[in-house]
Amino acid sequence: MAQPLTIEDLRIMAKRRVPRMFYDYADSGAWTESTYRANEQDFAAVKLRQRVAVDMTNRTLASTMVGQPVAMPVALAPTGLTGMQHADGEILAARAAHKAGVPFTLSTMSICSLEDIANHVGQPFWFQLYVMKDRDFISRLIQRAKAAGVTALVLTLDLQILGQRHKDVRNGLSAPPKPTLMNMLNLATKPRWCLKMLDTPRRGFGNIVGHVTGVADMSSLSSWTADQFDPKLNWDDVKWIKDLWGGKLILKGILDAEDAEMAAQSGADAIIVSNHGGRQLDGALSSIAALPAIVDQVGGRIEILFDGGIRSGQDVIKALALGAHGTFIGRAFLYGLGAMGEAGVTRCLDIIRKELDVTMALCGLRDILDVDARILVGGREGAVKALAGR
Ligand code: GLV
Repeated sequence: MAQPLTIEDLRIMAKRRVPRMFYDYADSGAWTESTYRANEQDFAAVKLRQRVAVDMTNRTLASTMVGQPVAMPVALAPTGLTGMQHADGEILAARAAHKAGVPFTLSTMSICSLEDIANHVGQPFWFQLYVMKDRDFISRLIQRAKAAGVTALVLTLDLQILGQRHKDVRNGLSAPPKPTLMNMLNLATKPRWCLKMLDTPRRGFGNIVGHVTGVADMSSLSSWTADQFDPKLNWDDVKWIKDLWGGKLILKGILDAEDAEMAAQSGADAIIVSNHGGRQLDGALSSIAALPAIVDQVGGRIEILFDGGIRSGQDVIKALALGAHGTFIGRAFLYGLGAMGEAGVTRCLDIIRKELDVTMALCGLRDILDVDARILVGGREGAVKALAGR
């Protein structure tokens, strides 16, 4: 393919280069995938107001997320198995994020460990935490995050149990892949991926293997996950983690105004309005459709961040216009990573930055901090009406 110009170009390239089970892992939702699809599609219902003959010089996208300066309000979301989209994927993505001046968030279920990122990137980053029954492991993980220089903890609240993704079951997802005939045939068509993967020691779950006895591969890990992720997780646990961590705390997976209220009362610094990329409750609202009610409930009392379906700078600005202070991209950067490694993540961030900048200008604004519902056709009410019933 000629130069990738869109996130969709990167997706097509990644699909060719990444082994099927890992491409599918990233690019799937739970059950019928209706919420996964709605996350992307619902953005189309929100229309932007074109403005003309306004001074467009000296534009800026600079903002903050949980008080930390960002070159644009777009962070890399925590995504599981990132180091299987490309060898050393988390290290490469963290480097690209750092160069672009945006936060990188390491997943608990990453391939590269907290220590790998600290040693090979050497810049502050964010860490996403899953709550498990083994509270000693959680305490140690939080201590490791502190030691690694993590500057914000992202606590995921929407995955106490796993929403089934059929493709993962059908593909026999494991990391590293098992040497079955189907896997071997598929890997034979991905020589670039294989060569890089043979060249790295990082092929298992870096935050877990070696830190919990008996966890050596994904199959034991998936049953370990089912055993270990804490189905009793509640707001008392949030408090326990907040106290243990003591730093900036972001609660991820809020889709309902009542939960947003609980989150605001918990004393956390921010929430991420999210349905886990449509990977958990199939049939839930898209993130963009859920956002306005949450802003109504807690806007001004807790920072509101957003993820779900962002594939362009236009999507970013629509989320900001509806009240998000910042956004996260997951699949968009994974496509870049699978397509071209670090350069692909850089390309993804470049694409989104340019789209965001030009879109802001064509909406008549020069400063991202000025974006609000006035850039939407019909204002906030117009967008809410267009999103209703979708
Ligand atoms: C893990 O976070 C997943 O969605 O697979």
